[in-house]
Amino acid sequence: MNFLPKDIEDYALKNSDAELEVLKRLNRETHLKMTMPQMLSGHMQGLMLQFFSKMIRPKNILEIGTFTGYSAICLAQGLQEGGLLHTIDVNEEFKKIITRYIKEAGLQGKITLHIGDAVNILPALKEEFDLVFIDADKENYSIYYDLVFPRVRQGGFIIADNVLWSGKILNSPMKMDIETKALHDYNHKIQTDSRVENVLFPLRDGLMISRKK
Ligand SMILES: C[S@@+](CC[C@H](N)C(=O)[O-])C[C@H]1O[C@@H](n2cnc3c(N)ncnc32)[C@H](O)[C@@H]1O
Repeated sequence: MNFLPKDIEDYALKNSDAELEVLKRLNRETHLKMTMPQMLSGHMQGLMLQFFSKMIRPKNILEIGTFTGYSAICLAQGLQEGGLLHTIDVNEEFKKIITRYIKEAGLQGKITLHIGDAVNILPALKEEFDLVFIDADKENYSIYYDLVFPRVRQGGFIIADNVLWSGKILNSPMKMDIETKALHDYNHKIQTDSRVENVLFPLRDGLMISRKK
């Protein structure tokens, strides 16, 4: 769901940088071949992720939820020299397309893909992260936050996608489905966590940006 009127979004896109050629191809192939292409971040959110990353200049990035690799390629644009992005996806079927596009983007050696359940993989990663992007199964957002929090450097960022959940986040808690309730709980959890400062950025489906104090 887009919250901006289509003509306003089109104008914003027309007055922003064009989608990188490699991302354009990946976007198109994802829409042609995948059953849920709407999971891909897309041009406007992808540009914002690139800009956040370029502002932070992270040495280590963690992404939970790779899908076809679009947001990983965006986030990797801001890595410091010698930096590394770890990305995790549970679905083995995406491995081929992700690996091919990492190569096409010239990012081999800068992105490490882990296939498996993030809950099992996260404890094995030893880096301290400057930037974390949570974009996997909504029910586990709070678990991912608790697992990664100690591994985020002071002043580092955790960005969680889809926190508006197509507006369903406004439903009464009694009427929320499991995913909406999990996102509602996540938003509440970090708002009441004095260790972070937060802004809910209403781009696309909502990005919750938290900075570790
Ligand atoms: C919304 S998509 C990610 C989109 C991607 N970040 C982008 O912007 O292009 C969510 C992904 O999370 C993955 N996922 C779901 N549960 C997971 C889990 N427990 N561990 C790791 N990945 C998971 C799914 O397979 C799916 O590819």
